[in-house]
Amino acid sequence: MKIIMLGAPGAGKGTQAKMIAESYKIPHVSTGDMFRLNIKNGTELGKEAKQYMDQGLLVPDELTVRILLDRVAQDDCKNGYVLDGFPRTIPQAEVLEEALNKLGDKIDYAIDVEVPDENIIRRMGGRRACTSCGATYHIEHVPPKKEGVCDQCGQELVLRDDDKPETVEKRLRVYQEQTAPLLEFYSSKGVLRSVDGTQDMQDVFKAIEEILK
Ligand code: AP5
Ligand code: MG
Ligand code: ZN
Repeated sequence: MKIIMLGAPGAGKGTQAKMIAESYKIPHVSTGDMFRLNIKNGTELGKEAKQYMDQGLLVPDELTVRILLDRVAQDDCKNGYVLDGFPRTIPQAEVLEEALNKLGDKIDYAIDVEVPDENIIRRMGGRRACTSCGATYHIEHVPPKKEGVCDQCGQELVLRDDDKPETVEKRLRVYQEQTAPLLEFYSSKGVLRSVDGTQDMQDVFKAIEEILK
């Protein structure tokens, strides 16, 4: 099964993608996580991506497409995957479609997690991310057992650089301009499904399970 998670920054794509990946035993492929790992490891790719990410801008398509196609060509992606944060522009969606076409394959579902902007700004301020394993928490909704420490690996939790309110607003504008057109793109292919992302995260997941059944 090949699934795309759509939705504004902070809608809960990552949260749901991890739940899907675990439940359906498919890899969770997040371009944002891949960029953050490269930044942490100080790679050239990371240095380049950081310049854009810190400003709330998208990383150029060329760079993004390259790392994504490399990733989904790996063995563990043979039986499917859940894409989180990719595609984010029409050209990215077209490249993915073309790559899948060549394999006689296609996307099964594009799931839009719908959350209004007001909720999003509140959520992002409370998000804390692990500097080591990428696990995410929320100070109210999903607090770690010990404040500031990752439950999974014991490393430090931080507010992401791009989760400051000014940058979140910028990311929301970029989403409207560059990513929202994908809703029409996938709707026209008949694979778009929407879920109400303002619900409790377990209920959002139940709605997704109904779709994937
Ligand atoms: P990326 O990492 O993809 O960030 P994003 O899309 O901005 O999304 P987030 O990770 O911020 O939010 P999310 O929807 O995953 O929400 P989460 O589950 O964490 O990208 C970062 C940057 O990398 C981009 O800005 C861009 O520069 C670059 N980039 C990445 N991919 C790219 C691409 N394809 N092309 C170009 N550039 C690219 O949830 C948010 C918070 O809410 C958490 O604290 C969570 O615990 C909480 N929460 C989740 N669900 C619920 C719920 N139901 N109720 C209450 N709280 C909830
Ligand atoms: Mg995410
Ligand atoms: Zn961790």
